[in-house]
Amino acid sequence: MTVVARTRQRDLVLQGRGTLMARCLALGLPVASACSGRGACGKCVMTILEGAEALRPPAVHEASVLARNGAMGNQRLSCQCRMPSSKAELVITTGYW
Ligand code: FES
Repeated sequence: MTVVARTRQRDLVLQGRGTLMARCLALGLPVASACSGRGACGKCVMTILEGAEALRPPAVHEASVLARNGAMGNQRLSCQCRMPSSKAELVITTGYW
């Protein structure tokens, strides 16, 4: 799998397993949060630019928080969305990178 975090300056490749949020933080990329990754605040939302089909669909709780926050169909909570296990390429971004 290749997961790319697209920022205004450059593309960074995320490594390892776990949530998108954890892998971004490990690279030093900031991720907005008001709930410390517990899936409650909706601030960690990220936009999936490419490869969304490689991700598991949002669980009921994630889908509920996304809906409550008016997220678009190509957005996910990075604290709840796990790195894909397939060989697909995934490109993610936020409005503040
Ligand atoms: S950090 Fe709060 S919902 Fe993800």
